[in-house]
Amino acid sequence: MQIPMKKYHIVFEKLNQFNKHIKSIYSHDQLFVITDENVFSHYENKVKKALSDFNVSFTVIPPGEKSKAFDMYLHVISDLIAKGLKREHMIVALGGGVVGDLAGFVAASIYRGVPFIQIPTTLLSMVDSSIGGKTGIDLPEGKNLVGAFYSPKIVLIDMDFLQTLSPREYRNGIAEVIKAGLIGNPTLYAQVRRPIELNSMHLKAAINVKKALVDSDPFDKKERMFLNFGHTFGHAIEKHFNYERFKHGEAISYGMIIAIEIGNKLNITPASLYDEVKGTLSSWQLISDPVMTKDRFVTDILTDKKNTADGFHFILLEAIGKPVIKILQKDDIL
Ligand SMILES: NC(=O)c1ccc[n+]([C@@H]2O[C@H](COP(=O)([O-])OP(=O)(O)OC[C@H]3O[C@@H](n4cnc5c(N)ncnc54)[C@H](O)[C@@H]3O)[C@@H](O)[C@H]2O)c1
Repeated sequence: MQIPMKKYHIVFEKLNQFNKHIKSIYSHDQLFVITDENVFSHYENKVKKALSDFNVSFTVIPPGEKSKAFDMYLHVISDLIAKGLKREHMIVALGGGVVGDLAGFVAASIYRGVPFIQIPTTLLSMVDSSIGGKTGIDLPEGKNLVGAFYSPKIVLIDMDFLQTLSPREYRNGIAEVIKAGLIGNPTLYAQVRRPIELNSMHLKAAINVKKALVDSDPFDKKERMFLNFGHTFGHAIEKHFNYERFKHGEAISYGMIIAIEIGNKLNITPASLYDEVKGTLSSWQLISDPVMTKDRFVTDILTDKKNTADGFHFILLEAIGKPVIKILQKDDIL
C-alpha cells in the first residue's frame, strides 16, 4: 500500500524571517533542533536569535557520515525524550544531508512520527537531500539501507549559510546542480558549465528538476531514477575508497563521465558530450586527469546486491536534458 506524501513548501528566505514561517505551520513554543558540531559552532547564537519566539533546544551530533548510524539514531532519540519532546512537537533538521537524513528518520519514527522542518546549510542539502522526503541511516552493510519516505512540513533555505561552507563542500553541491542541468534543464547546464557564483535562481532551477521527478514518482519506481544519473558508478567509487577519498559530488562526477562513456559505447549518447561534460566537471575541480575509467569499478558494480535479476537499471543521456533508463547486461558495461 502506498500512502500519498503530504505537500510542503520550499521557501527561500533570510534566517531572521524563519520565525514567521514556522509560526504559520506550528502552534507550540518548543523547537527541538538537531544539528552537528560545525553548524552549531557557527550558528548557535544566530539561530537562537532568529527563532527567539520559541524555546529552542539543541541536540548536537559529531559532523560527518559516521553520524548517520544506528547508535547515533538511538542517542538522538534518547536525548530528545530526555529534553521533553512530545508527539505534537516540532523537530528541526539544521545542517547538511547527514543531519537532514538522520533527523528526518528520527522524526519519521519517534512516537510513530512527529513533524519536522528542514533547514539545509550545505549546497548539496539545499538542492538535493532536503527535497524529496527520503530519510535514513547507513548500516555496516551499506549506505542508506534503513529509512523512510517522510516529508518535512517546510524547507527553509537561506543561502547565507553557504558563506561558512568550505570550497570543497561547496563544489560537492555543484555536482548535483550540474547533474540536475544534465538530466532536466539544458539552460541551467549552460549557465553552470564554467565556474560562476550561484544565485537563488540556479538553486531553484536545480530544485525544480528534482521536484518534478519526485512529484511524478514519489516512491522511486520510474522517472525519479533519473536522479541516479552518475550514481551507479559514483556509489561504487565512494565505497571502493571507503567513503574517505572522494566526496559524494566528486564520486558522482566521475560516475557521470563513466555513464557518458558507456552511453557512447552503446551509441545512445553523442560522442561530443564526453569532452563537453568532462570540461565542465574539470573546470569546477570536481574531477582531475587522468579521469578514472569504469574498468577499475566494474567488479564492484557486478557484485552490487541492489542489481535486479533482469540486469542493471542504468541512467544514460540521449542528449542534455534527455535521460533514459536502460536495463543493461554485464557485456554492455564491460
Ligand atoms: N535524502 C536524500 O534524498 C539525499 C540526497 C543526496 C544526499 N543525501 C545524503 O546527504 C549526505 C551528504 O550531505 P552533505 O554533503 O550536506 O554532507 P554533511 O551533512 O556531512 O555536511 C558536510 C560538512 O559541512 C559541514 N557544514 C554543514 N553546513 C555548514 C555550514 N553552513 N558552514 C560550515 N560547515 C557546514 C558539516 O558539519 C560537514 O562537516 C550523505 O549522507 C548522503 O547520503 C541524501
